[in-house]
Amino acid sequence: MLIKSAKFVISNSDIKGCPAPKLPEVAFIGRSNVGKSSLINMLVNHKGLAKTSAKPGKTQLINHFVVNDSWYLVDLPGYGYAQTSKTLRAGFSQIITNYISKRTSLLNLFVLIDCRLEPQSIDLQFLRWLGQNGVPFSLVFTKCDKLGKNKLAENIDSYKKTLLEEWSELPPSFLTSAASAMGRDELLQYIDSICKQK
Ligand code: GTP
Ligand code: MG
Repeated sequence: MLIKSAKFVISNSDIKGCPAPKLPEVAFIGRSNVGKSSLINMLVNHKGLAKTSAKPGKTQLINHFVVNDSWYLVDLPGYGYAQTSKTLRAGFSQIITNYISKRTSLLNLFVLIDCRLEPQSIDLQFLRWLGQNGVPFSLVFTKCDKLGKNKLAENIDSYKKTLLEEWSELPPSFLTSAASAMGRDELLQYIDSICKQK
């Protein structure tokens, strides 16, 4: 898919203020600082469109962007940052859970995972919640530029093995880097295919 335009539309703390659900939509989520906003900027080739920061907790709202005037891309707040976020309820704010469970035009949620880390319980818990709620999702491993080829392959393999301990099937997954644009074509092609199925 060729990116012709990418524009910020609106930020919301509540699904009620989101644009009318008239276009196909995909959203990006994951732990704070995993690289959601950076990945979005890399995808649409527009540095600074989604605000990034080295400090976790930068994105606090549901941010809608419209791409090629034909689909919405959504940057969501990270989870798992607050010190108190030990429990599911506290870890995944209502903003996130409401948006995901109620947004009728959401076709796919991309769950971002830092490729350098061992499977984190908060991510596994979140995936479980998606499964229980029937939300279609894919995995996007981020910051792949930070690992050598062998270590990267080893980590991804081990992540998938962990998932297979509780899932009978693996979701689609992508290896990406906002720094090197690795995975950009694959992700855009995938988004194109899900928007067309709609
Ligand atoms: P919150 O909005 O706080 O939840 O964070 P986020 O997930 O949107 O992360 P963000 O894109 O702001 O990036 C966090 C930090 O990671 C920034 O310092 C980025 O420069 C860095 N970063 C993000 N993606 C990559 C990547 O692919 N490679 C490298 N090397 N650094 C990255
Ligand atoms: Mg962000």
